[in-house]
Amino acid sequence: MPYKPDQILVSENTETLFQETAMDICAYATECVDRNGIFNIALAGGLTPKQLYETLSSPLCLNNMPWQHSHFYFGDERMVPHDHKDSNYLMAKRALFDHAPVPAENIHPVPTHYETAEACAAQYANEISLIDRFDLVLLGMGNDGHTASLFPGTDILQEKVKTAAAVFIAQMNSWRISLTYPAINKAERVLVLVKGKDKQSMVKEVLYGKHQSQYPVTGVRPAGKLIWRLDRAAHPDTM
Ligand code: 6PG
Repeated sequence: MPYKPDQILVSENTETLFQETAMDICAYATECVDRNGIFNIALAGGLTPKQLYETLSSPLCLNNMPWQHSHFYFGDERMVPHDHKDSNYLMAKRALFDHAPVPAENIHPVPTHYETAEACAAQYANEISLIDRFDLVLLGMGNDGHTASLFPGTDILQEKVKTAAAVFIAQMNSWRISLTYPAINKAERVLVLVKGKDKQSMVKEVLYGKHQSQYPVTGVRPAGKLIWRLDRAAHPDTM
């Protein structure tokens, strides 16, 4: 079945991409809290979302988010301490949590202090089992079409039951913990955020190519709404 997001939104530049995305998240979070009294979001890692988190904690959004009722989880995490430079939690702490009134109990980092990545993943799965589903899963996309830590050729792509699993990324010689397709695809909404010319060719393959299924990001087919947000630089010139 072809991979076709419900919406592909293209912003003029990175500035407007993050502003428009942040405002959408504020509006959706408010809608979720009005409806259910809570907003459960899984944050993306990597470099792209850092500016989004800074925008969310800027004056543009600071008073438009229901912080007290928003719970922050992570789509994936590197198997490093939370004060390590590669930690997705540390990036979100510095860009968002240190500047917004998020109650400490509303922040749910992936545990990385157990002996093995498998033990960390099992603990994280226990924690996310306490919520029915994510209202929003934020994702990025790598140049190889991976998302979260769902990399091409890894066993985690076959996981059908667990909501979080450990995965060894050979090309990085490192372990990660990631949400699995079952957890991501149960979400009410998934937002894939991609920026920059360097991603354009993979965006073209994933959204309009003939071999979409070889790219893990195309396995993200949520029960709810799937939205892609791009800046113009990342959007293929010809479709
Ligand atoms: C991570 C992310 C990963 C990221 C892509 C894109 O932990 O690195 O979960 O999936 O979203 O690799 O990364 P950039 O946004 O840095 O290009």
